[in-house]
Amino acid sequence: MSERLVVIGSQWGDEGKGKITDYFACRADMVVRYQGGNNAGHSVMFNGHKYSLQSIPSGIFNPNTVNVMGNGMVVNPESVLVELDRLHNQGVTDYQLYISDRAAMVMPWHSALDGAYEGLKGGKLIGTTKKGIGPAYSDKYSRVGLRMGDLLEPEYFAERLQAALDEKNMELKMLGLPTYDFQEVYDRYMEIAKILGPRIVDTSDLINKALLTDKKILFEGAQGMMLCIDHGTYPFVTSSTPSSASVPVGAGISPKWIDNVVGVAKAYCTRVGEGPFPTELHDEIAHEIRERGHEYGTVTGRPRRVGWFDAVVARYTSRLAGIDNWALMLFDVLSGLDKVKICTHYELDGKIIDTPPSTISKLARCKPVFIEMEGWKEDITGIKSFDELPEAAKAYVAKIEELTGVPVGVISVGPDRTQTVILSEKLKNF
Ligand code: GDP
Ligand code: IMO
Ligand code: MG
Repeated sequence: MSERLVVIGSQWGDEGKGKITDYFACRADMVVRYQGGNNAGHSVMFNGHKYSLQSIPSGIFNPNTVNVMGNGMVVNPESVLVELDRLHNQGVTDYQLYISDRAAMVMPWHSALDGAYEGLKGGKLIGTTKKGIGPAYSDKYSRVGLRMGDLLEPEYFAERLQAALDEKNMELKMLGLPTYDFQEVYDRYMEIAKILGPRIVDTSDLINKALLTDKKILFEGAQGMMLCIDHGTYPFVTSSTPSSASVPVGAGISPKWIDNVVGVAKAYCTRVGEGPFPTELHDEIAHEIRERGHEYGTVTGRPRRVGWFDAVVARYTSRLAGIDNWALMLFDVLSGLDKVKICTHYELDGKIIDTPPSTISKLARCKPVFIEMEGWKEDITGIKSFDELPEAAKAYVAKIEELTGVPVGVISVGPDRTQTVILSEKLKNF
């Protein structure tokens, strides 16, 4: 039997999925992205170099790993070219990369519309990355979108492009935005087809063949479960489902293959963009954590909002996504605080609740119920085993396990590949 590992974000994104994916990618035959697009910003650090990926899977640094951008993604081919150029300039030239012929394409008008829709919301911005993700998924589900495989059939592409432009140009005009000329777009995308064409394949077939020949496959989620279009803090969410539950549809495999899910969680919480965030801090501690954790968005550079670890969210996301282990990230950032807090429950209108309510109006009224624990002063960035952690840090890990019912399988104590402690036997053997 082959081994499949799903790495997902369990909070509001930026939990450290890139780091964990890269860590395990060294041993994986294949790394697959299955949702989202270049709204993601995944950082990977090794040998003193830091890399940032948006839509390309974090297995790209291992020449033996096949990287797949699955059908559930929205792919902006221009942005893929920019990313590949950047990687080339950083010396990453030996890689394997395939893109699904069924993946929805993010077209130039999608980012224009993303910005315009935000403008129409007046003060109630979602705070999107303005990469056109929502409009691209909307077009996919409205059945007017273009797909990567269309690029391989020029006549069919022309037909689909004309149909899309008939609709989109009308909308753009209404919004007072520049329209697009068919021939210009067609010519540019035919150029793109020449460059990316050989990489556009039936990736579901590729993945299934790998599954049947005992390959180790890692599925790399983007965003985080609280940004899920169904289960997140709607409407302050992204337009896909960042869960392990998306893997079968977004990669084109049977759900029966999924058997090991790592939920990536910061040892605290962050959120970039608008929307309720029950454990958010507005004091000096938030500032301290933001600076120590360099909590500024990889894609947009926006300062990330910071809060305490939220066990209500962790329990919720672990039950939705079947999380087997936590990868507890940026643990080093908490060193130096006198006290640390964990949110165990919310209080909503005088009642204690243990799972997030469905509307943001209720969530905004939720008051976090905290437990306070002793902090630790020691620098833990060099530890190689759980035993080397200060007692207070060990107690913090144990409390998260107790409150969530999910074991911590990985502890991360710095951004580098080497600053990773694996506790779970199953993960050690991946
Ligand atoms: P992703 O979107 O989930 O891949 O996460 P990002 O890459 O957007 O954000 C995580 C940030 O934390 C990046 O700057 C990482 O280099 C950094 N990082 C990851 N793990 C650790 C850790 O254990 N400690 C510290 N200090 N930084 C980390
Ligand atoms: P990674 O994969 C953090 C947030 C945006 C915004 C909302 C909707 O790096 O964890 P969108 O552009 O998707 O329509 O924006 O979702 N968001 C993220 N926040 N990390 C991400 O990805 C995100 N991708 C989208 O800030 O609030
Ligand atoms: Mg990120």
